[in-house]
Amino acid sequence: MNKFHTPVLLKEVIGFLQVKKGKKYIDATLGGAGHTEEVLRLGGIVLGIDVDEDALEFVKKNFKFQISNSELLPVKGNFRDLNKIARLNNFDKVSGILFDLGVSSFQIDSGQRGFSFSKGGPLDMRMDKDLSVTARDLINSLPKGELYEIFYKLGEEHNARAISNSIVSARRISPIETTGDLSGIIQQAYGIKGEVTDFTRAKLNKRVFQALRIAVNDELEAVSEALPKCLEILEAGGRIAVISFHSLEDRIVKQNFIKFQKDGMGEIITKKPVTADTEEQRINTRSRSAKLRVFEKK
Ligand SMILES: C[S@@+](CC[C@H](N)C(=O)[O-])C[C@H]1O[C@@H](n2cnc3c(N)ncnc32)[C@H](O)[C@@H]1O
Repeated sequence: MNKFHTPVLLKEVIGFLQVKKGKKYIDATLGGAGHTEEVLRLGGIVLGIDVDEDALEFVKKNFKFQISNSELLPVKGNFRDLNKIARLNNFDKVSGILFDLGVSSFQIDSGQRGFSFSKGGPLDMRMDKDLSVTARDLINSLPKGELYEIFYKLGEEHNARAISNSIVSARRISPIETTGDLSGIIQQAYGIKGEVTDFTRAKLNKRVFQALRIAVNDELEAVSEALPKCLEILEAGGRIAVISFHSLEDRIVKQNFIKFQKDGMGEIITKKPVTADTEEQRINTRSRSAKLRVFEKK
């Protein structure tokens, strides 16, 4: 187990992937390779994709043996190009594909990446540092109506109107640069003065931070594009496993799997999403919102 990120629903994912020795798998969200480590241990060969150079660097340092043995191939890329990346790397027929969506603990915990309202840092939020638009750019340049749409639609933030008004007023005075600046503005829009507890801060900020992160990284579109591409590279009997962390993502996964099944492409294995057991939820708070869905290609 590594400190980079604790994998969620590990035993469930591994059970559903039915890993076999010498078979090929794609981890479309490699992160700290928590899930991949187990696939490798069971003899699978893994193409690990991530947009984040920091994640790839971590994996290259910590999995030298498996990489030199050609058991693991870490590659920089966006899973929206999954089929292209797979073919380029000789993974054109695979037995399983995993998506563990969202950000890793490492990304959240690095203040400089700007994902966290509880860590000071620049308003960045790019998973892929090659992207040109940051959260700062969106916050300081989008019209009020577009900010409202982002907060309301991607964060399901009920106070989206007041928050977008407060942002536009604040940026007239000076640019909004940091996670702390934004957090202060959100607090003000809620009419709360003075110091707040960590619990209250999380309650006030999490929806806006989630919405901005999704917008900066175009996360929903990337998942929508990637899922149908999995069918091109999965062999018969191969499985797609997706772990999502909020209802917007989960809806996309559910609807895609229903469509695949209707189109006669295979079968939904998880009639209901699988969630973490009470022990995992106790140990790893991040697992509490996790939902796993699995589809098997015919
Ligand atoms: C939740 S973490 C994965 C953790 C990993 N399963 C583990 O156990 O260590 C999600 C990872 O997916 C990456 N990611 C998110 N969206 C991506 C995309 N569209 N393409 C490629 N990687 C992406 C993030 O940079 C992050 O490292």
